[in-house]
Amino acid sequence: MTDLADRQARAQMALWQDHLRAVGDRGDPYALLLRAPQDPYPLYEQVRALGPLHQSGLGVWVTASHRLANKVLRDKRFGVRRADGSKAPEFMPFDNSMLGLDPPGHTRLRKLTVPSLNPRRLDRWRPSADRYCHELIDRMLAGRAEVNYMSAFAQQLPLRVIGDLVGIPERHRRAFFQLSRRMAYLLDGVASVEVARDVRAAIEEMTVMFTDIIAEHRADPREDLIGDLLPAVDDGRLEMDELVPLCMFLPLAGTETTVNLIGNATRALLENPEQWALLKGDAGLAPAVVQETLRHDTPVQQYRRIAHMDVELDGHVVTAGSELAICAGAANRDPEVYSEPGRFDITRKSGPETLSFSAGIHFCLGAALARLEAEIALAAVAERLPELRQVGPVRRRDSFIIRGMLQFPVAVR
Ligand code: HEM
Repeated sequence: MTDLADRQARAQMALWQDHLRAVGDRGDPYALLLRAPQDPYPLYEQVRALGPLHQSGLGVWVTASHRLANKVLRDKRFGVRRADGSKAPEFMPFDNSMLGLDPPGHTRLRKLTVPSLNPRRLDRWRPSADRYCHELIDRMLAGRAEVNYMSAFAQQLPLRVIGDLVGIPERHRRAFFQLSRRMAYLLDGVASVEVARDVRAAIEEMTVMFTDIIAEHRADPREDLIGDLLPAVDDGRLEMDELVPLCMFLPLAGTETTVNLIGNATRALLENPEQWALLKGDAGLAPAVVQETLRHDTPVQQYRRIAHMDVELDGHVVTAGSELAICAGAANRDPEVYSEPGRFDITRKSGPETLSFSAGIHFCLGAALARLEAEIALAAVAERLPELRQVGPVRRRDSFIIRGMLQFPVAVR
C-alpha cells in the first residue's frame, strides 16, 4: 500500500470509528453491537424491541426476526453487491470468491465447487477427521493436565481437514496453518489499518503458495478440490485468477467458523452439566449438540445484503443501495419461532431450521462438512475426556461477526 493510500485508509477508518462511537453513545443497539461486546444477546433483545425491521442510526437496516431474515435471504431483489456490481465500502479489499458475487458470476463459481463439497463425497474425509481427532486427544492426555482447548484441539481439526480437502501438500501445511490464522482476522470486521496490512501480506504469501501448489497438481493430478477444479480451468469454465481466490476462500470460510462451533458447543456443554451428562451417556447425541449450538450460540452472528431496488418490507421502504444486516445470532433466538430461546437444550424438538448457515443462494456450501467435523469432535471428546472442565476465564475473539473464543482453559483429566 502506498503512503497516500495508507493515509486515506487511516482517515476513512478514523471517520467511521468516530461515527460509530457517536451513534453508539446515543444508545443505538446496532452501533453498540458493532463494538463487539462480550455478550451480544441483551443487545439483540433491544434490536428486537424496535420491531422486525428498523433503520439504525448508522443507516443500515437491521433485523433480528427469523421470519423476515429468511424472506430477505431468499428475495432476488437483494444481493451482496450494489446493483451496479460495486462492493459496499470496505477497508479490506479481499476477493470473497463466490460469497462476494451475485448471479451470474456466483452461480458459475458455486456450481463448479458443489461437487467437491457434496455431502455424499464427504464420507471421504470422515476417517481422517476421526483419526486427527483421536491424535489430538492422545496428545492432550499425554501432556499437561491444563490446556487451552482452542489451540490444543478446536483450532487444529478444521485446518487439517480443509488442508486435505483443498489439497495442501504436507510440506506447506505449517505455512498454510499460520497464514490461515492471520487471514482469519478478515472475518472479524477490520479493526485497524495495521491488521488490514498484515492480512494483505498474508494474502500475498498465500497466493504465491497456492500458485506453487496448483502447478504441482498439474504435474501430479490428485483427488481433492484443486484436482476437481483444474479441468474447469482447462476448458475455460474457470479463470486461473479465480481458482486461487477460491482456494483461499474455502479455508477462510470453513476454518474459523467450524473451530468456533466446536469451541462454543463444548463451552455450552460444560456450562450445562445435565446436557454434558446426556452426551457422555450417549455419544450418538453429538448431532443434536451441534444443531442446538448452531441455534443457541452460532459462530457467524451476522451478514449483510444490499437492496438492488426499492423494496417494501414490513411497512418500510428499503431504498436501492441500502444495506440490511441479518442478525443470525438473534434470529436463532427469536421467541416467535423457538420456545425458551435462551435455553441450551439438546433435546429440543420443534422450531424451523436456523439461519446459522444462511439461506437462499448463498446457503453455506460447507454446512455438511462443518456438521460432520463437529459431530466427530464432540463424540470423541465426550467418550475420551469425561473429566473435562473449565479452569480459568475465557478470552473471546474481538469480533461482531465471529462468535468464539481464543482462550478456553480446561483441565483434561
Ligand atoms: C460452523 C461452520 C460454518 C458456519 C457457521 C458457516 C456459515 C456460513 C454462512 C452464514 C454463509 C453465508 C453468508 C451469507 O449468506 O452472506 C456461508 C457461506 C459459505 N460457506 Fe460456510 N460456514 C461454516 C463452515 C463452512 C465450511 C466447513 C466450508 C467449506 C469447507 C464453508 C464454505 C462456505 C462457502 C463456499 C460459502 C459461500 C456460499 C455462496 O456464496 O454460495 N463453510 N457459510
